[in-house]
Amino acid sequence: MSDLASLEALTLEAIAAAGDEAALDAVRVGALGKKGSVSALLATLGKMEPEERKVRGASINKLKDAIVEALEARKAILKQAALEARLKAEIIDVTLPVRPSPLDTGRVHPITQVMDELAAIFADMGFSIAEGPDVETDDYNFTKLNFPPDHPARDMHDTFFFEPGPDGTRKLLRTHTSPVQVRTMLTQQPPIRVICPGRTYRCDSDQTHTPMFHQVEGLVIDKQANLGNLKWILEEFCKAFFEVPDVTMRFRPSFFPFTEPSIEVDIRCSRKDGEIRFGEGDDWLEILGCGMVHPNVLTACGIDPEVYQGFAWGMGIDRIAMLKYGMPDLRAFFENDIRWLNHYGFRPLDIPSLVAGLTA
Ligand code: DAH
Repeated sequence: MSDLASLEALTLEAIAAAGDEAALDAVRVGALGKKGSVSALLATLGKMEPEERKVRGASINKLKDAIVEALEARKAILKQAALEARLKAEIIDVTLPVRPSPLDTGRVHPITQVMDELAAIFADMGFSIAEGPDVETDDYNFTKLNFPPDHPARDMHDTFFFEPGPDGTRKLLRTHTSPVQVRTMLTQQPPIRVICPGRTYRCDSDQTHTPMFHQVEGLVIDKQANLGNLKWILEEFCKAFFEVPDVTMRFRPSFFPFTEPSIEVDIRCSRKDGEIRFGEGDDWLEILGCGMVHPNVLTACGIDPEVYQGFAWGMGIDRIAMLKYGMPDLRAFFENDIRWLNHYGFRPLDIPSLVAGLTA
């Protein structure tokens, strides 16, 4: 085989073997580039006799044409193959269902829902929201609320205490939202009308108790705030919250260190087949504790009990959520089981309001 024929055979073979456009270009440069094999052959023509150059030049050009043609043909094939591979890889199945948006799948936890409902109801009565920290001082959680240092009521609270700090005092996880009353009175001038929803902690766990739970506290301080106002507020709250036209309430004497007199409130209900209904029946259900703020508490918080008086109440949010929405086990509230949330949760844009309905 002549040198030209073997070069042609070798080059065409390399062209056929090129798997992609980059490999093909490398073959092109190797043959036709400045230092390529064909270019080297063409450079030899200059030193030849005219006769020889004519013959040799024609054959080299023929070789060059054959290579150019083969390169183009292979390039077209590779381009087509690359396009087909891309079409295959980037296939879009227009019959696939649209992915549901977070608005369709996300759910508002019943506790959040009930807190929003509380805010809507009490905002309508002119209350604002006050907040305090989960980690409290013994002073705010107990002492300023008129619990004497060794009073047994401190034990009733199953408190989680921290190790004593450098000054010897122990911080604690607040056992109720009542310390927010203290914080509010220390920082605001009467008249005061606040609700304080938040997390609370006690060392307790069963079907209706979890170590972390939620309470809402209410506080009104004014010159003439009285038990009649408190009864009206609680009644209006119960009607709005349980979405019933009437509730009957029962006020029982009780004891809390921070109120005098202290009262526990029950609401009339019926229980049939495990279902509780309010505003009917002859059963009673305890829902909250309340009373007139003790003068010692007012004094400890810098408010003159000769000028101001007030009332307060405290209620378990988890408990009223369980009652309203028929959820039997409190522990499930904090297990983050997506099936439970899908079942008991609320749609995020259905924001509770008294006008549109709390649970529209
Ligand atoms: N702090 C009380 C508790 O956790 C609840 C309570 C009762 C709060 C009476 C009050 C109140 O503000 O007046 O058991």
